[in-house]
Amino acid sequence: MVDVILGLQFGDEGKGKIVDYFAKNYDVVARFQGGPNAGHTLYVDGKKIVLHQIPSGIFHENKINLIGNGVVLDPVILKRECNSVEAMGIDYKKNLFISQRTHLILPTHRAIDKASEASKGNDKIGSTLKGISPAYMDKTGRNGLRVGDLLDKSFITQYIRLRLKHQKLLDNFSFNEDISAWEEEFFDALEFLKELKIVNGEYFINDKIQQGKKVLAEGAQGSMLDVDFGTFPYVTSSNTISAGVCSGLGIAPQKIKEVLGVTKAYCTRVGSGPFPTELNDETGEQLRKTGNEFGSTTGRPRRCGWIDLVALKFACMINGVTQLIMTKADVLDALNTLQVCNSYKIDNEDTTEIPFQMSRMNIDPVYQRFAGWKTDITGVKNFEDLPANMKVYINYLNGFLNIPIKFISNGPGSDQLIVAL
Ligand code: GDP
Ligand code: IMO
Ligand code: MG
Repeated sequence: MVDVILGLQFGDEGKGKIVDYFAKNYDVVARFQGGPNAGHTLYVDGKKIVLHQIPSGIFHENKINLIGNGVVLDPVILKRECNSVEAMGIDYKKNLFISQRTHLILPTHRAIDKASEASKGNDKIGSTLKGISPAYMDKTGRNGLRVGDLLDKSFITQYIRLRLKHQKLLDNFSFNEDISAWEEEFFDALEFLKELKIVNGEYFINDKIQQGKKVLAEGAQGSMLDVDFGTFPYVTSSNTISAGVCSGLGIAPQKIKEVLGVTKAYCTRVGSGPFPTELNDETGEQLRKTGNEFGSTTGRPRRCGWIDLVALKFACMINGVTQLIMTKADVLDALNTLQVCNSYKIDNEDTTEIPFQMSRMNIDPVYQRFAGWKTDITGVKNFEDLPANMKVYINYLNGFLNIPIKFISNGPGSDQLIVAL
């Protein structure tokens, strides 16, 4: 069977840590969408590493790590990442597998991403500029190159043809940066990629399932960045929700069992777009500082705010979440009061539904207040030992979402995870 771990907010919920924690219970960990726009932080023997493309199960011996067909892959970033992982004593050549259907991010995709964002001016998406959107555009536009194409002698011809198409686009944007150095490292990384285990991902994973192996699908980004259900156009270019697992790995929906949704105890967003519960005040600043809320991929400061239960309930619905995991609860330790948004006021009307076009609306979040717990919880191991005020907060969330919070993360460390009762 297949279980899924995915983010329910705007990304950076702590998925990497959680996947790493649960990987021991699985045989296969697989990424099904997104690309190096993701930055998943793990602490391995106390040492920090941020993974962008390699699944977060790579530090567990004898676990298969699969980059699925739904991912877009930058070979340059992959090569760099493989080297970092190797330096930490991991034989990635043994446990890392890549689907031949995975689309490649080309240097010109990165250039188009940059040029396109620049042309949007104030309306820019705040992309990570990793070439994600242009790579997915070439996938749906039926132009893209895939990892399996690398092994075909026509690859260079196909590359040149696409490169010419991209050049026309870049000329339209009046983009004239020299990207020859990017191309050089790209071709160098392709040779590296060719040596990795390139597999027929859908047979590969279905064979494992058939053999009774357990698969964990690792989401990137978050549900509110989903290309269909997020705050469009301020989204990423893939289906980040559980439905993406089927198309991104080639597995049938009946195979999916648990959907573990990860949410912070508050909320953050990096990049542009609507964020009704954003705090542009001292409390927001405090959350950013205490939570060390700076992007794992770009280093940009993350926008911070209160947890948004309207959005969270929506995310639970579209994902079929069966269990919740709350991370970064410790970041709220010092607050006197906490707030939870449980409805929106739009044009003086209350609603608990996510509107079609959030970015064109004036949304006033309606809050419920809670007393803070004012206790350092980072050393707590058992649920019973959590402060009473925190249990009130958790119980409220459980009741509102009608899905149990099963785990509470109280620090970045791999052992800082409390099983809820
Ligand atoms: P991901 O993209 O969902 O994997 O999340 P990121 O790695 O981008 O961002 C999460 C950040 O929060 C990382 O720096 C983690 O080390 C850190 N983190 C994860 N869980 C906790 C937690 O419970 N408490 C604290 N204080 N930090 C955490
Ligand atoms: P993880 O997996 C947070 C955001 C970008 C931007 C928008 C589009 O670490 O949670 P893109 O590069 O996809 O064109 O950017 O999506 N974004 C993320 N925000 N965490 C991520 O991944 C993100 N990946 C993309 O900041 O607003
Ligand atoms: Mg991240």
